[in-house]
Amino acid sequence: MDLHLQGISHRYAQVQVLSALDLTIEYGQIACIVGPSGCGKSTLLRLIGGLEKPDAGRILQIGEPPPSSLNPLTYIFQDFALLPWRSVEGNVSLVLEDHRLDAAARARIIDDVLARTRLSDFRKAFPRQLSGGMKQRVAIARALAVKPAVWLMDEPLSALDSQTRELLMDDLVELWAREPFTACYVTHNLHEAVRLGHRVVVLSRRPGKIRSVVEIDMPLTERKARESELSAQQQHLWALLREDALAADLELIDG
Ligand SMILES: Nc1ncnc2c1ncn2[C@@H]1O[C@H](COP(=O)(O)OP(=O)(O)OP(=O)(O)O)[C@@H](O)[C@H]1O
Ligand SMILES: [Mg+2]
Repeated sequence: MDLHLQGISHRYAQVQVLSALDLTIEYGQIACIVGPSGCGKSTLLRLIGGLEKPDAGRILQIGEPPPSSLNPLTYIFQDFALLPWRSVEGNVSLVLEDHRLDAAARARIIDDVLARTRLSDFRKAFPRQLSGGMKQRVAIARALAVKPAVWLMDEPLSALDSQTRELLMDDLVELWAREPFTACYVTHNLHEAVRLGHRVVVLSRRPGKIRSVVEIDMPLTERKARESELSAQQQHLWALLREDALAADLELIDG
């Protein structure tokens, strides 16, 4: 399933957040979205996810979701969004409860996604017992369980330390290589953007418009080993962003 955004504009009261934004995310592709603070990245994800309606423009889902998809769109948040009173498997099974699955089918899915996220030995643990990286792997397992057509990821690694972030990037690439998923991945981290994005979409200051789309033409699975070849693209992205990032920073200080 491809995602097409056509002429998306959105405002909150006096604040025009997004303006006439066109973007297509093709099936099996990860589009990283970068842009200065407050330019509307999270708003964009909320609009795609249907949590809010755009003031103007259309968001189209074209084509079929993957076979056996239980949910076309799934979020992964920075703060993991786990239920603290549920175990690891309880958090995963939550998203399966609204679907007509028998107990055996549910157990099969849970076993599979916990194995794929290396959490099988921790299925009875509670979120408070887990490291940040493990918590985010639970959230990833929960997303895998519903086989979404599009993953909406809002700075999913930004609450983690840099080593854990590296491990989680490896995990995401491995999961994607095994079964490509489509994602809209918001990040402030350009290193993440060049490691995970097939394309990096650079948004301008508010009202967020597309300033540039940078294609990263290297297989995801090779990027870690060939990281030095990506540094020019990372610098190019920073050059595109720097001025807006500075201005957005001053705007926050000015209140
Ligand atoms: N529900 C809301 N009501 C009013 N204003 C809002 C609301 N949500 C967001 N905004 C404003 O809209 C603008 C864009 O917010 P958004 O959270 O989408 O930005 P962002 O690019 O995700 O920022 P960040 O990089 O800090 O996460 C900000 O100025 C924010 O204050
Ligand atoms: Mg945000």
